[in-house]
Amino acid sequence: MSTHSPSDHAHAGATRGIDYASYLRLDELLALQTLQSTPAHPDELLFIVVHQASELWFKVLRHEMDTMITALEQFDAMRALLAIQRINVLTEIIAQQLTALDTLPPQRFAQFRAYLGASSGSQSAQFRAIEATAGLRDAHFMAAIAEHGDPPAEVAAALARPVLQDLALALLAHEGVTLESLYLGPGPTPMFLLIEGLLEFEQRFARWRFLHVQLVERIIGPGTFGTGGTLGAKYLARTVAQRFFPALWAVRSEFYGKH
Ligand code: HEM
Repeated sequence: MSTHSPSDHAHAGATRGIDYASYLRLDELLALQTLQSTPAHPDELLFIVVHQASELWFKVLRHEMDTMITALEQFDAMRALLAIQRINVLTEIIAQQLTALDTLPPQRFAQFRAYLGASSGSQSAQFRAIEATAGLRDAHFMAAIAEHGDPPAEVAAALARPVLQDLALALLAHEGVTLESLYLGPGPTPMFLLIEGLLEFEQRFARWRFLHVQLVERIIGPGTFGTGGTLGAKYLARTVAQRFFPALWAVRSEFYGKH
């Protein structure tokens, strides 16, 4: 639990001469968009900012996922519920940001793509840490990580932790309920909302994957290799089917038998 009370925050800092620009470190922040193209391409600023903003939101998302994991480990269902609600809003924001790049015509991206060198979103350590924290462990995912040598520290740390699905199931066991009983029981409970919240997270994350693969097809075409050397859209399309929480999807089939 937080040890801060509202009154602790009320007056702190008021006398320290902090204003909007210094608090947010705006001078530094707004100096970080270094265009590589020469002459400067008018669309490269948008390209850089969508990536940088995504990485900032990844940072917040990872922070909230840590909060979620702590809450689950402490069997604190209500705090976990609050955390998953925020995680889901953040995931939606991150996905929607991609649509800004739908306005980048392919011939204009081609004018500055060569300046990106070998940089590719597939080298995003934060993105991989999010996937690992959520629960990916399949061969395709592990291969994507191994491609860049030893995993970065945040990815290695996430891989060493229990996956979200196991933590959620442990909480259910602690509460004396099963996944099946949540869907057959008398009505929505906090535990049911928590499990549905996790499913919502998976759905929204897959929406990011889909918006991204469509963006890639729209801008570089379905058959073009990525700057990271993959088969581009074809490689990415396969990731849309990856699942963090297979048990949460499987429980639904149980109500309809198996054919
Ligand atoms: C013009 C827009 C974009 C294009 C053409 C594009 C293209 C690609 C391609 C082709 C890949 C596959 C790996 C490779 O061979 O490079 C990829 C992966 C990736 N991109 Fe993008 N991308 C774009 C925008 C973004 C943005 C805005 C983000 C936000 C951070 C992003 C994040 C990622 C991530 C995380 C991966 C790894 C996905 C995975 O392996 O599942 N991309 N991108």
